Amino acid sequence: MRIAVVGCGYLGAVHAACMAEIGHDVVGVDVDEAKVSLLARGEAPFHEPGFPEVLRRCVEAERLRFTTDPALLADRELIFIGVGTPQLAGRLGADMRYVDAAVRTIVEHAAPAGERPVLVAGKSTVPVGTAERLAAVLTASGKDLLLAWNPEFLREGHAVNDTLHPDRIVYGLPEDRATGEVAKAILDNCYATILDAGTPLVVANYPTSELVKVAANSFLATKISFINAMAELCEVTGGDVTRLAEAIGFDERIGAQFLQAGIGFGGGCLPKDIRAFMARAGELGVDGALTFLREVDAINLRRRSHAVFLAEDSVGGNLAGRTVAVLGVTFKPDTDDLRDSPALDIARRLSSRGAVVRVVDPAATAELRRRQTGLDVRESVEDAVAGADVVMLLTPWRQFLDLDPATLKSHVNHPVIIDGRNALDPHLWQDAGWTYRGMGRGVATW
Ligand code: UDX
Repeated sequence: MRIAVVGCGYLGAVHAACMAEIGHDVVGVDVDEAKVSLLARGEAPFHEPGFPEVLRRCVEAERLRFTTDPALLADRELIFIGVGTPQLAGRLGADMRYVDAAVRTIVEHAAPAGERPVLVAGKSTVPVGTAERLAAVLTASGKDLLLAWNPEFLREGHAVNDTLHPDRIVYGLPEDRATGEVAKAILDNCYATILDAGTPLVVANYPTSELVKVAANSFLATKISFINAMAELCEVTGGDVTRLAEAIGFDERIGAQFLQAGIGFGGGCLPKDIRAFMARAGELGVDGALTFLREVDAINLRRRSHAVFLAEDSVGGNLAGRTVAVLGVTFKPDTDDLRDSPALDIARRLSSRGAVVRVVDPAATAELRRRQTGLDVRESVEDAVAGADVVMLLTPWRQFLDLDPATLKSHVNHPVIIDGRNALDPHLWQDAGWTYRGMGRGVATW
């Protein structure tokens, strides 16, 4: 199929490349010239395992192009919208300006031919009600443009695999049966290989499909904050939240995933999605239904404060002039994404309390230098921890988990390790002479 993807950020670029990978002819359209020229040369503008290979392969095979010229939308049968919906500055709601601009561009340049309509498929995470509003814009254009909502569930660090082998596909279709069937046939054609592999398909109306995405992310955020609330209880009772999570996770109704207590969730999705969802519920007059998400957010942010407290407490209450080594700054491993990163937030707070904060991260060094955060960015772990009074593991990159505590100890001033992700073996570190402090994890014998 001749497909376009408008918006070539994390979601859009990966989706474009994966659609080309399954055999379609794809054009990625974005207004950012620097990003487009990188992508057009087959170079990934962000860190994502497996993405550079797919990108290069498809660009070389000439099934995948990138452009800033929206005129190239003219011969496309299916146009995805993959632009961002970030949090509005100073408000909880989502900024819809990029989605609205994408729709205007599509209306101007899409060119349905003869009997064949063009399907516009939204992938961006939007407030419920958006699809209905945009469908009216498409109808008013007078062109034969249909709309479907087709939310995306990819995780950073697993984006290619999640797109090629999703655990489900969701279509939000127009209420009108005949129009809906036409839209569905176009999407079925696009996803034929993925559907043939047995991927479950859920077909719903517009509002359901929009809600599915925010409901899923709210559930995940709630699960993380639930276990982090248990961590708070463990802290005052001497319990170990990692054991607790293990024990409740064996119950299949609960499940073991997303029960990793620590410094909490961050990134470009979970935090802003729960806030935008609350804002939308307020507009719809049902804010009470999502009041619990305020607690989910509050628990999450409290964990960052607790990590700062642990650092402060470990140096006797005053961080001024003390050296803290922070291992990992991205919001999770296997990405260079610093958006709403709990690790970066904690590092900044330590710095504002007068600590000398040295950070090391496998993927974010250049971006941290560019941002001039005031943090001392180092290239290696040894360099970062040299003479440190406290070492904090804040993003559990594999290379940090494999560190040898005995070797590391010879570099530091005080062997204190704060495990912000409960990702280390406390006994291993204690046996090597370290003071180990986890999150909600008393260091019990059992
Ligand atoms: C999330 C959703 O998982 C994905 O389906 C959606 O499409 C986009 O938002 P992502 O933002 O890539 O994906 O990150 P995710 O893997 O969900 O992790 C989010 C945050 O939660 C990270 O900061 C991670 O470190 C944290 N986390 C995750 C925990 O603190 N504990 C856990 O048990 C799991």
